[in-house]
Amino acid sequence: MIDRPRRLRQSPVVRAMVAETRVHPSQLILPVFVAEGATEPRPIPSMPGVVQHTLDSLVEEARRAAGAGLAGVMLFGVPQHKDARGCGATEPSGILNVALQAVRDKVGDDVLVMADTCLDEFTDHGHCGVLDDRGRVDNDATLDIYAEMAVAQARAGAHVVAPSGMMDGQVGAIRTALDDAGFQDVVILAYAAKYASAFYGPFRDAVQSSLQGDRRTYQQDPANIREALREIDLDVAQGADMVMVKPALSYLDVVAAAAQRTTVPVAAYQVSGEYAMIEAASAQGWIDRERAALESLVSIRRAGAQAVLTYYALEAADWLG
Ligand code: PBG
Repeated sequence: MIDRPRRLRQSPVVRAMVAETRVHPSQLILPVFVAEGATEPRPIPSMPGVVQHTLDSLVEEARRAAGAGLAGVMLFGVPQHKDARGCGATEPSGILNVALQAVRDKVGDDVLVMADTCLDEFTDHGHCGVLDDRGRVDNDATLDIYAEMAVAQARAGAHVVAPSGMMDGQVGAIRTALDDAGFQDVVILAYAAKYASAFYGPFRDAVQSSLQGDRRTYQQDPANIREALREIDLDVAQGADMVMVKPALSYLDVVAAAAQRTTVPVAAYQVSGEYAMIEAASAQGWIDRERAALESLVSIRRAGAQAVLTYYALEAADWLG
């Protein structure tokens, strides 16, 4: 026998030498939730170990993220009051903007402060945009609000804004508004290929989503990949600095195709339902939690993602330590 591939698997040292892919804390981004008016962190039942933070506990978590050498924290706000326009998203006193400022002031030199730029947490109907008089999501009216929201987030101190609403033209509208307001250096991490996915279920608990209906008129059909490439091309042409594919594990082919297609860095989001599956199975003793989490992260990296958003970011940094 000439070829014995097992020779290169016989010890941890030789395996490490030939490992093609590594996960490093500097490539991980921790999504975090902050609830307006919360006086103590509130557990999210469908995401064991994840909480809705108070402003103080959020700053502490961001400090841990910086200490662990993570790339960033991605902030999601849970407002006390929602309305049809999602006013809490654009007001400087809105919970997300207040939280961005607190995190930027306290730990912003050591970790990237990232903002979800989307209306769904702030609207009473739960859609990612405003509705027209027939109840449909109004693309172009929403763009004006996204532009205003991104500028408010930049003003609050966000290094990175992440438009996730899948409105046509959102990256261009945000880039123009940021530049006009003097925020040329604020990075746009575009959720370019975001699918209408069942795997967002626990997230909707996390932000107490009031969604009526579904998001299929703006998020992508899981059956399609060419559409994802089109979205990526459009976002890059409009000025996206990085593009994201979401969810991650069920869409590794899309991550791989995105990485082949574009020269901007590709990120992938291991979403709430992916986290919940590993949590639920490992709680039953059916899979090994740490190994399953790290295996999924290395797989997402292997597919071509430079950066990974994951609720395991802090723990993974520790495991990898
Ligand atoms: C929209 C947004 C969603 C997630 C991130 N940004 C929810 C949605 O589109 O319904 C989901 C993240 C997750 O499931 O972990 N602002």
